[in-house]
Amino acid sequence: MGVWVFGSLNMDLVGRVARLPLPGETILGETFETIPGGKGANQAVAAARLGAVTSMVGRVGQDSFGQLLLQAMAAAGVRVDTVTLDATHHSGVALIAVAHSGENQIIVVPGANGAVDEADVNRFSQRLPEAQTLLLQFEIPFDAVQAAARVAHQAGVRVIVDPAPARPNLPEEFYYVIDILTPNQTEAAQLVGFEVDNVETAFRAAKRLQQRGAPIVIVKLGQAGVVVVAPDESFACPAFPVDVVDTVAAGDAFNGGLAVALDEGQSLKQAVTWASAVAAIAVTRPGAQPSMPHRHEVEAFLSHANRVGRAG
Ligand code: ATP
Ligand code: RIB
Repeated sequence: MGVWVFGSLNMDLVGRVARLPLPGETILGETFETIPGGKGANQAVAAARLGAVTSMVGRVGQDSFGQLLLQAMAAAGVRVDTVTLDATHHSGVALIAVAHSGENQIIVVPGANGAVDEADVNRFSQRLPEAQTLLLQFEIPFDAVQAAARVAHQAGVRVIVDPAPARPNLPEEFYYVIDILTPNQTEAAQLVGFEVDNVETAFRAAKRLQQRGAPIVIVKLGQAGVVVVAPDESFACPAFPVDVVDTVAAGDAFNGGLAVALDEGQSLKQAVTWASAVAAIAVTRPGAQPSMPHRHEVEAFLSHANRVGRAG
């Protein structure tokens, strides 16, 4: 039993800049790197580094990026036998600008991720008995996301959905096949139709989304932490204070950490604190997959935070 991720793999083409460009503006960058990423793959790498048996379902192109993406995942310990080589599309890429402030701008070109379909859902269905938790995001076609959530839910697998990139609405029945919905503030705002920019509005949004059928809603607020609305409790969990280098994939680190902590039997509150620590470490490091911490690093971070009284 382990964590399964059904989602995207991207090669991130990352340029570092003093500040983000304005619309229509050309600016000079400082450095350029190709770094393995993609919301699905990042969440898988996070879970694997934290010690979970982790498997990925998705597609890459038959190109050098595809090979590098598979190698990076395998090196992190993710099982990739259910990732397909797509003969007709290039591997997914993300064009990313990261400013000195840590802010970023991202354009995702889905490529092979956009070709994920029912054949991939069937591949996942055949392996359902191995899954304890399924992690989903929205960088692959929504029909495939919904079908995977449906089969997993029917099989009693915990379904955690990161509704990113943002969509303006979700079908009513989708809320009933997921266990935990984890929008960031932009995604939450799109789904509820009002601005979400602080703890109070995040609680309001989370309750609204819970009323639509998702039992647990966690709204991610960047350096303001998260708010959680669950059937028996509601609480806020502040972010750990850290020196931010690059927030790319903070949300992915959080979701990977959350899945592992819940699978290990931690309470929701403990799991959210644990996931916040995983994400806090990730924002102190550059890049997506390379920023995901190992388990011993999270344990050391939390024990230091407890000693100095900064426990989430
Ligand atoms: P991304 O799209 O970049 O993967 P996201 O927008 O989904 O991220 P965020 O809300 O930015 O998610 O961050 C997720 C979690 O990561 C936060 O709730 C918080 O716990 C942690 N985090 C993010 N930014 C910081 C920060 N500056 N300092 C400490 N922790 C942070
Ligand atoms: O969540 C971060 C990820 O979003 C990046 O790795 C990039 O690939 C985009 O998909």
